[in-house]
Amino acid sequence: MDLGIRGRKALLSGASRGLGKACALALAHEGVDVTIVARTRDVLEKTGAEIAQATGVKVTTVAGDITTPQGRSAAVAACPQPDILLNNADGPLPGDFRAWSRDDWIAALDAMMLSPIEMMRLTVDGMMARGFGRVLNIVSRSVKIPQIELGLSNGARSGLVGFVAGLARQTVGRNVTINNLLPGIFDSDAQRAHVRALVEPGKSFEELWRARGEANPARRYGRPAELGAYCAFLCSEHAGFITGQNLLIDGGSYPGTY
Ligand SMILES: NC(=O)c1ccc[n+]([C@@H]2O[C@H](COP(=O)([O-])OP(=O)(O)OC[C@H]3O[C@@H](n4cnc5c(N)ncnc54)[C@H](OP(=O)(O)O)[C@@H]3O)[C@@H](O)[C@H]2O)c1
Repeated sequence: MDLGIRGRKALLSGASRGLGKACALALAHEGVDVTIVARTRDVLEKTGAEIAQATGVKVTTVAGDITTPQGRSAAVAACPQPDILLNNADGPLPGDFRAWSRDDWIAALDAMMLSPIEMMRLTVDGMMARGFGRVLNIVSRSVKIPQIELGLSNGARSGLVGFVAGLARQTVGRNVTINNLLPGIFDSDAQRAHVRALVEPGKSFEELWRARGEANPARRYGRPAELGAYCAFLCSEHAGFITGQNLLIDGGSYPGTY
């Protein structure tokens, strides 16, 4: 299928590794020029070169922290008129809510709610004026299946999802869709860090890692490229009637029928 987005421009944060990188690569394979943002410059440059070599599109790199005003300004300056926006960054490590301070909550809100909202504020009006826009937020299944150890994510990400539900209905009339991707377990650095934080006496990383994969109905972790392909379709010209949705990609681990 021709996704109809060749020559479009995408701005993707959190895109040097893992799920964000997979989205950038999938879009680049469709002929989309990509601007990728992450904090660690050497990894980012390596990823940029890899994507450019594999796909031949124009790749721009921005080393910065998307949760800060400076990082967001640098991202938008590098790609002032994106057709596609992917909001992504770190998730929180597991913990107990009794240990979290107000500052911990503000940092979680900055990363998982306010920063994506600000990126949308900076870009959706231009998309609407140009008559095409695709916005995707990488969120988490935690907004549908609370992860007891991930209270910061359960809470902060729900704020983003609630906001998007309203905004998506205001932009789709100008062919600007906004959707949230809710990953289950994917084989990535973040997933490994999460499992490492759950290690305790008698439970090794390897045991926990294997058991987590086997507990999924698909009996495995998701592959980042699978999420990248989903992202590319949702950013395609064919996906203009899909908006305001919270889309699980989790191997069937969500236990409900609807
Ligand atoms: N993997 C899973 O199973 C899973 C499941 C549910 C939800 N999620 C969520 O999906 C998101 C992506 O996960 P992942 O597994 O792809 O993580 P990952 O492999 O650790 O990759 C995270 C990417 O984001 C960049 N990044 C992190 N914080 C950033 C910031 N403040 N500004 C700019 N770039 C930033 C990282 O580069 P730098 O560190 O160099 O900045 C890296 O490129 C996370 O929010 C995670 O919680 C993941």
